[in-house]
Amino acid sequence: MKSLVVANWKMNPSRRKKAQQLFSAIEKGCKNIPRIEVVVCPPFVHLSSLGNTAKRVKLGSQNCSWQNKGPLTGEVSPKMLKDMGCKYVILGHSERKKYLSETKEQIAKKVKAAIQTGLRVLLCVENAQELSFLQKKTRLSQKNLIFVYEPSFAISTEQGRKPSPKTIAREVRAMKDIVGERAQVLYGGSVNAKSVGKIMREGKVQGVLVGASSLDAKKFLDIVKRSQA
Ligand code: PGA
Repeated sequence: MKSLVVANWKMNPSRRKKAQQLFSAIEKGCKNIPRIEVVVCPPFVHLSSLGNTAKRVKLGSQNCSWQNKGPLTGEVSPKMLKDMGCKYVILGHSERKKYLSETKEQIAKKVKAAIQTGLRVLLCVENAQELSFLQKKTRLSQKNLIFVYEPSFAISTEQGRKPSPKTIAREVRAMKDIVGERAQVLYGGSVNAKSVGKIMREGKVQGVLVGASSLDAKKFLDIVKRSQA
């Protein structure tokens, strides 16, 4: 299974030109790192301009609607994302739950719609307990579903403590007990070039989801390189 390094740009950059520059620096830098699948998830508005240039780097979205059509003001359907060149979509991110009141029921519906449309879902969960709930709701097989253990307290903009690789490994174990041994599980929360190697090795994850450190091409490429070890 190829390790995955995913950039979650959140609501950045403010300008299209900056997004294109950042994306092309990542694209260029990744050419010599063949063994890792690299995914960049920009805001919706940058998808169309980056979709044309994405080659080595795969494109993902940070959210999608639970429907492929219908009168849903402000929403973007999984079908539209596929048409823009997206291969992946992040769902269930804790910031959407916390600030936009996204519910587990909505997340479950989004997961189903995205998978039925052929997108690969990066499903973020707070812990194994939340995963268990979502698994019961969606009853989906592992195909096209990648799980991300991302406790909200570990995100770089939060002040809380960060889990040790040992704690990550324990939670990953509990998650695999629910979804099966062959599932791909990533970790997210304040990952940087210094911590990624240890997190992947000792945390027993097959990839990482990176927020703040993905907004600087050099920092992000360092993470990609070190995740190979
Ligand atoms: P962080 O964000 O790397 O800045 O902690 C990760 C995320 O929110 O996905």
